[in-house]
Amino acid sequence: MFELNDDVDVDLKEEIVKLKKELNAVILAHYYQEAEIQDIADFVGDSLELARQAKSTSADVIIFAGVHFMAETAKILNPNKLVLLPDLEAGCSLADSCPAPLFKAFREKHPGHLAISYINCSASVKALSDIICTSSNAEKIINQIPPDKPILFSPDRNLGKYLMKKTGRDMLLWDGTCIVHETFSERKIIDLKTQYPGAKIIAHPECEDTILKHADFIGSTSKLLKFALEDESKVYIVATEPGIIHQMKKQSPEKNFIAAPPEKNCECNECPYMRLNTMEKLHLCMKNKWPEISLDNATLAGALKPIEKMLEMS
Ligand code: 13P
Ligand code: SF4
Repeated sequence: MFELNDDVDVDLKEEIVKLKKELNAVILAHYYQEAEIQDIADFVGDSLELARQAKSTSADVIIFAGVHFMAETAKILNPNKLVLLPDLEAGCSLADSCPAPLFKAFREKHPGHLAISYINCSASVKALSDIICTSSNAEKIINQIPPDKPILFSPDRNLGKYLMKKTGRDMLLWDGTCIVHETFSERKIIDLKTQYPGAKIIAHPECEDTILKHADFIGSTSKLLKFALEDESKVYIVATEPGIIHQMKKQSPEKNFIAAPPEKNCECNECPYMRLNTMEKLHLCMKNKWPEISLDNATLAGALKPIEKMLEMS
């Protein structure tokens, strides 16, 4: 029977630290998690760094404060470990846009193509891919592919277009997008730039071209953080999920970070999937050792190869 958090007095932070010791667990968190979760995690990083941490951990249990495809990647790299995700509904619009049977048909239609898939896809799609990439190593990986080898890039069309420009490679793109990175308003970003003329616009390559064309710097979450630390401006307009601003403020408290606004007056620049994880759910999943990520052996083995290829090439 699973327990609910009915004790209102429970000190969640204290309990999480205690359970972590008891379970010999590690908490891995993505930068888009709420601030409290980032602060209690053993490691906070981008998708590539989190995969590397998952591969190298000696902990018995991995608690993944992120989304489903990230926790799946940790499980693929550690098939014999218990991998927990605080909320199994924490999905991703990019992964959802690319169901495995449709991806399989796409591959069959283009038999001579190499399939490079963004890590934001399901384990089944990974198992059908040749190489996985993240936004921090995609350019490096594509540049290692012989120029005459045609490439299918899935599932993020915006990242794919950006990479085509950066590498000069023509690629066949899957038509998926991130619901967060496509909400930013070009008009409101230009208004902010008028208000703060010295501000730098920094953007994740999952953004649409209409936003990327205004950016002073484009990169994965970790690269955006590094840029914000090393650059000497005072104000930044941040076109990615605003959870990352927590780390930006921590490392540069004297700078002003403004979350790029969405077109509508909503909170839709926050990832609804990432934000499903809460401190309460993190505590409960450790207490109940559930929800657990489980994958069949064929998917585990099939998805491991393209992930290992990525780690070798990056
Ligand atoms: P990175 O942290 O690898 O840049 O990925 C961003 C993202 O959208 C994760 O879902
Ligand atoms: Fe997926 Fe976008 Fe959320 Fe990242 S921010 S998990 S790409 S929906």
